[in-house]
Amino acid sequence: MLTGKKILVGVTGSIAAYKSAFLIRELIREGAEVRVVMSPSGREFITPLTLATLSKNPVAVEFIKPETEKGAGEWENHVELGLWADLFVVAPASANTLAKLAGGTCDNLLMAVLLSSRCPVWVAPAMDLDMFNHPATQENISKLKQRGVSILEPGTGELASGLEGKGRMQEPEEIAQAVISYFNPQQKLKGKKVLITGGPTYEKIDPVRFIGNHSSGLTGVLLAEACAQMGAEVYLISGPTPYKPMLSGIHFLKVNTALDMFELVQKHWNDCAVGIFSAAVADYRPVEVSHQKIKKSEDTLTIHLVKNPDLLSWAGQHKSDKQILIGFALETENELVNAQAKLDKKNLDLVVLNSLRDEGAGFGHQTNKVTFIAKGNKIINFELEQKVELAKRIAEFASDLLK
Ligand code: CTP
Repeated sequence: MLTGKKILVGVTGSIAAYKSAFLIRELIREGAEVRVVMSPSGREFITPLTLATLSKNPVAVEFIKPETEKGAGEWENHVELGLWADLFVVAPASANTLAKLAGGTCDNLLMAVLLSSRCPVWVAPAMDLDMFNHPATQENISKLKQRGVSILEPGTGELASGLEGKGRMQEPEEIAQAVISYFNPQQKLKGKKVLITGGPTYEKIDPVRFIGNHSSGLTGVLLAEACAQMGAEVYLISGPTPYKPMLSGIHFLKVNTALDMFELVQKHWNDCAVGIFSAAVADYRPVEVSHQKIKKSEDTLTIHLVKNPDLLSWAGQHKSDKQILIGFALETENELVNAQAKLDKKNLDLVVLNSLRDEGAGFGHQTNKVTFIAKGNKIINFELEQKVELAKRIAEFASDLLK
């Protein structure tokens, strides 16, 4: 399944480094070409000799190669290594390496290769639960995600410290499976165009102020990547977001206001087989936008608002029998009833309902807990899951509905 694929495995200082031996063995078994780069502290946990034998290639650790028959002073070309790979998997990724990558520190060969690489980078964190939960580590992880690094979420269980919790590196077989799926995606959306809305909208009040909301835009980007992974040509129309899609096949169209987003939806919807509307579109915008900064002269200030068009309803009204339309419903009460009403009113095939009453769901989290409500009152509840998994689930569901 991996013949012809070049995979660079990074190994850092964590007790889980022994698992990288199994990962390399799996990748080799699947026909991949594997090279390994270790941090100096990774070497304390597993020997380069073991990994060189399994990968069938010398392992790179230091900038200057150890003295060989060829002579001393030969250097390890980090740029060449970084450019060689189709995929760079750092497993295990210690808290220290994650911090250095987030900050751009380049104090060893592994970091230099990471900074020079152009291929997708995956990291598999492995550490004790308190280190993993520490705000510094979480901030670093969130920064890396924003830059398009994929995080292979650690599992929960017994840790090397004897404590129980989240921090165990994903099992090598799981990582190998993810690599196989990455290179062999089921192209169920091949030849299809998909329109996705994402992020918040910013409605201008004056040159320095706007009405916005807490949407980060992560779900839109992940949906775009999930659909592109399945072979679709994607139009991602997103309000302001720090995230950006990394895969090819995605037209990333950035907008600010609901009206700008609407214009692009009207332009592209007709050509698309699937529409997934995840944007948190502002329902209202100021009637008038002040050209100058509004001064604080009075004790109270009234801003008159006018309703924005409902983009999803418009798409529902202009939907053919062959098109699939999916909307989101973010509710705080009477969740199921409200979401079912949206399904009918907006002429949708599926509503993805999430409630702000569920912990870990909604804005600002990497996770979500949703219920699918499909036509014919089909209701499916899901547990709390990573947004990246949810995005794949929605893309799968859309491709099944297309059939
Ligand atoms: N939506 C949209 N355009 C709008 C408002 C919402 O396309 N102007 C879409 C959202 O992207 C989402 C769905 O409609 O897929 C539901 O959004 P939500 O804010 O939950 O509901 P509303 O339709 O705005 O209704 P209400 O505010 O009454 O809950």
